[in-house]
Amino acid sequence: MEPLAADRDALLLALAEVVGSQSVLTSDSVRVGYEHDITGRHSGTASVVVLPSSSDEVAKTMAVLSQHGCRVAIQGGNTGLVGGGIPYDGEVLLSLRRLSHLAVPSEDQTTVLVGAGVTLDELQAHLRPHGLEFPLDHGGRSGATIGGMIATNAGGPWCIRHGMMRDHVLGVEAVLPDGSTIERLRGLAKDNTGYDLTQLLVGSEGTLAVVTRALLRLVPRADSRIVALTGLADLRVGLRLLRACRMHAPSTLAADFFDSSGLALVRDHKDLPAPLPVEHNYYGLVELAGDHDRIWTELEATLTSAGLSQDQVAVAGDASTRRRLWEYRESHTEALNALGVPHKLDVSVSVDDLPSFVEELRALLANRYPEARVVIFGHLGDGNVHVNLIGPDPEDQSPSDLILDRVAAHHGSISAEHGIGVAKRKWLKLSRTATEIELMRRIKSAFDPDNRLGAGRIFPLEADNT
Ligand code: MLT
Ligand code: ZN
Repeated sequence: MEPLAADRDALLLALAEVVGSQSVLTSDSVRVGYEHDITGRHSGTASVVVLPSSSDEVAKTMAVLSQHGCRVAIQGGNTGLVGGGIPYDGEVLLSLRRLSHLAVPSEDQTTVLVGAGVTLDELQAHLRPHGLEFPLDHGGRSGATIGGMIATNAGGPWCIRHGMMRDHVLGVEAVLPDGSTIERLRGLAKDNTGYDLTQLLVGSEGTLAVVTRALLRLVPRADSRIVALTGLADLRVGLRLLRACRMHAPSTLAADFFDSSGLALVRDHKDLPAPLPVEHNYYGLVELAGDHDRIWTELEATLTSAGLSQDQVAVAGDASTRRRLWEYRESHTEALNALGVPHKLDVSVSVDDLPSFVEELRALLANRYPEARVVIFGHLGDGNVHVNLIGPDPEDQSPSDLILDRVAAHHGSISAEHGIGVAKRKWLKLSRTATEIELMRRIKSAFDPDNRLGAGRIFPLEADNT
């Protein structure tokens, strides 16, 4: 509930006492940067933006907001794709960007304690001189924060080797909606003392508590890396490449794909040359990381086993060429956003089912939306498909209905790595049973009995069930 006007001055005063008046932002021109997402699809209004700089300030801020009965939206780097971090209807926007503390890695080099506002890029730069890295990466690395990545259980290309965000979060400190704090940061290898609250908060999309700090798992930084961009006739050849990686290349770090339509879009947007001498329907991007000699031997065996000839492959060993090849894949989101507001569906099916799922979907979309531009890319090794459609009215829900219905028919997930947010709450029932949703509602209410934190995210609205 937005504070009444009479109460508003008292609220702003109380917040300023906690974080300082310069960190309580009310002017339209400053708030606007927090009120829109990067796709142009989700926007709202915040009554005020608050920027605490420490866990203690977050706890005190939440206590003030609780006393005033305010609804709160939490935001990290505002790189989310399902509208979860956007403030709606005058919610207070709690930005965690100033929680940027980075500790030195632990003595045994296996963990690091970081603030929720640290970006992925900042974390990796911090770890590099120690010969370490955080085992998750994605194209939004310059803006995405650790807190946001915990909230959404972020994925990305490296999951095929290392798993998703939850596999790297050993503990969190978090502030509950009433301002009290829980702290599970000791990083004990064994700790079976009841429910795992850390893991419950991973993927909770800012609806249960405010994660302020996290203890993260680290891995040694690989000595060498190679990237191979391959031309594929179809996604069945893509699976052949994936199986060859599994068989011959234990050093595989990533196995992503994109289609010819996405490549054309990215090339236009970034003014890039063709990556291969001949055009293909699909492209596979494989990265190997490990011992220098071993990865080259593994790549050769992989490409031979997949039956890919030299003119179907561009290989990069040095850092700048590797980056150039990844640019074709990682620029998809930006290029799509520049074209218009996309219908963007992040879904997953079983890896073996991926080619037939995509073929079926393409036929359905071509039939129903003949004028639309369909761009499909994703993470081959996880059966994770990013379906993007430009053309149909952004407000039209029928593309989502059609795509998510097909996902359900293939027993897939309607959200693989982006979360539910507000974008997919209507379709949650396609991936979760009524019993599961009711249980999740009860968990939500145990953390947040007044439904003030991230209200309206994840759970279907009553109107959705009619
Ligand atoms: C990606 O893999 O590039 C991301 O999940 C972003 C997107 O789907 O736009
Ligand atoms: Zn992705």
